[in-house]
Amino acid sequence: MHSSKIVGVGHHVPEAVITNQYLTTIMDTTDEWIIERTGIKERRWIDPSKDTVANMAAKASRIALQRANLTEKDIDFIVFATITPDYFFPGSGVLLQRELGLDGSIGAIDIRNACSGFIYALSVADQFIKTGMYKTILVVGAEIQSTAIDPTTRGRNTAVIFADGAGAAVLQRSDNPGILSTHLHSDGNFAEELYVRDPGSSRPREERQPEQILDTTHYKVVMNGSLVFKHAVVRFLEVIQEALAANKMSKEDITLLIPHQANLRISQFIQHKLEFSDDRVYNNIMRYGNTTAASIPIALSEAWGEGKIKENDVLCLAAFGSGFTWASALIRW
Ligand code: UT7
Repeated sequence: MHSSKIVGVGHHVPEAVITNQYLTTIMDTTDEWIIERTGIKERRWIDPSKDTVANMAAKASRIALQRANLTEKDIDFIVFATITPDYFFPGSGVLLQRELGLDGSIGAIDIRNACSGFIYALSVADQFIKTGMYKTILVVGAEIQSTAIDPTTRGRNTAVIFADGAGAAVLQRSDNPGILSTHLHSDGNFAEELYVRDPGSSRPREERQPEQILDTTHYKVVMNGSLVFKHAVVRFLEVIQEALAANKMSKEDITLLIPHQANLRISQFIQHKLEFSDDRVYNNIMRYGNTTAASIPIALSEAWGEGKIKENDVLCLAAFGSGFTWASALIRW
């Protein structure tokens, strides 16, 4: 059986910085409320005239490839995590393939597991490499949330949180195991606690007039924030412990924890429970908000760029989100 290793990471975020102060001009909210409840100070929103999920993903991917001393031609397969694909179908994986100038010799799939999407994508790629099917896989998380949120007081509980960006990792066959294990969970009983209803196929035909859909809150992100929060803090800790137990490691073995950037309060709660010092938990939600599937690869790339990840370090990635889904990955760098 082969092993896989991350050999390059990259990220790209849109230029436009949306401050909390700006949000107070378009909805009834305050800088204090947003910082106190979420830790977010600013986030990035795309310019719809030039940014797409696939082209942001391509920018992040090229950086990851360059850092790995590879080119587009070295990619055997693409695994693309997003819940905000450019089109309802096809997925954004094929659009990234086109952006990268790759022809039909390789395949691309999309993963729709929201905030856990990148870890699910990493796990899928890891299995393909372990079995020997592929040698080099591009794993991407990219989202444009700013066009799905409701940027008015009606949507303020999600509009202040979710944001745009892309991150990528190149996973390659290796003699030294990099991805030590991945752990995936879901519980569909909570599907409607954090979801976007439309354009889902379950809407009855008589409710399908565009103006009816636009008029319903179901067109936008619906989130039972406090319930999501309560489940998140429990599942994050569970799935981190699961990863450690599977590798016969203790929490002391983790050099750096990179949690999905859901809410700074969630990350701080986990940090407190694990009794980790600040330098062992990476957070950048203050600058980028919650970019769903993109949050972990953006954080991974930024932490690497800041010199916070060194050879042989043990990283733990952990996520929780819509589905509910939750997941972790233990990685030796
Ligand atoms: O990515 C993974 C999935 N997402 C998450 O992990 C998010 C988890 N949940 C959360 O982060 C928090 O629940 C939120 C930050 C979303 C909300 O914080 P909360 O402390 O749970 O607030 P709440 O929803 O209970 O709302 C408290 C009050 C309400 O007013 P009333 O009913 O007490 O008068 C809301 O209407 O805060 C109000 N509120 C706001 N006020 C100012 C909600 N959003 C805002 C806002 N600005 N943006």
